[in-house]
Amino acid sequence: MADNKTLILGIETSCDETAAAVVADGQEMLSNIISSQVELHSRYGGVVPEIASRQHLTIINTIINNAMHEAGVSFQDLDALSVSYGPGLVGALLVGVSTAKALAYGLKKPLIAVNHLQAHLYANYLDGAPRVYPTVVLIVSGGHTELLLVTGPKEMVLLGSTRDDAAGEAYDKVARLLELGYPGGPVIDKLARDGNPSAIAFPRSWLGDEGRFDFSFSGLKTAVINHLYHARRKEELVSIPDLAASFQEALLEVLVEKTLVAAKEYGAKAVLLAGGVASNSRLREWMRERIETILPNTELHIPKLVLCTDNAAMIAAAAYPLYLERNFASLNLNAQPGLPVK
Ligand code: KG4
Ligand code: ZN
Repeated sequence: MADNKTLILGIETSCDETAAAVVADGQEMLSNIISSQVELHSRYGGVVPEIASRQHLTIINTIINNAMHEAGVSFQDLDALSVSYGPGLVGALLVGVSTAKALAYGLKKPLIAVNHLQAHLYANYLDGAPRVYPTVVLIVSGGHTELLLVTGPKEMVLLGSTRDDAAGEAYDKVARLLELGYPGGPVIDKLARDGNPSAIAFPRSWLGDEGRFDFSFSGLKTAVINHLYHARRKEELVSIPDLAASFQEALLEVLVEKTLVAAKEYGAKAVLLAGGVASNSRLREWMRERIETILPNTELHIPKLVLCTDNAAMIAAAAYPLYLERNFASLNLNAQPGLPVK
């Protein structure tokens, strides 16, 4: 490895992915190791925080060693250690934060605290997204639904977020209701391809002018519950593909349209997507079509799947500008489960 490159180890344990990665100069991914806990949580229909923390603790050292090995670098070669310290599940975050602190202390290297939400933006940049301003970013996963406005290399504001369930959480809850397993997103995505999205008129929660960049998915979830309840009472047959397609259409229409309104209002030069739900085939296609039609001068970037979902390469990439500023964290760093985006 060339001596002149800055090597940062990234550590990510905010939810149910245990991940470590080595990134050179904030841009070149030398390794990106991710261990998903999906199978451990699937029988419960969602992430169980205590199980997540324990599993992080069991495998974090192996994941870090694998990331170092794959990158072909030694701990002494590293310039800094970086870790996602919030937002996320407190017990899960603490595993990454404690590990990063121990390594920084033992190696006498700087520690960099990274905001997990800001890191999702860097996942796009790692994948070739244009660094233009202003940019609107939609982060949609099992834990987040955030609309961000990025106005400069270090300036971003939160335009809106969910008032109840995250978008992926809504997919998972509806899938659990239909006994489709966990995670629900990929199954509903697939089933919906064979269904009629106009079969059932589920509500779209626009939230009026005040909440025009906020989201709410619990009403949609209740509407699905009510629909099933009434159909069963009347002994009517429910087409699961139609139900999946109609639910998905109601949820995605709100995501697409609110993103477009924000992009238009702020004159966005680019729109970026992030998070597990960004891998949804209908969302990708719908967003592309709408942006091409309504905002032909706005560039849409959707990262490849491995960078949409939680990973540590995005943590190390987000740490690089902080490294250049010598913006280091103290060894008193604590996990911040409710850390805002800025
Ligand atoms: O980013 P992610 O892997 O983990 C965190 O939540 O942090 O996102 C997982 C979420 C789950 O709720 C899952 O159901 C959803 O993303 N998801 C999808 C799809 N693939 C994953 N939702 C809709 N369509 C998909 N194809
Ligand atoms: Zn995330």
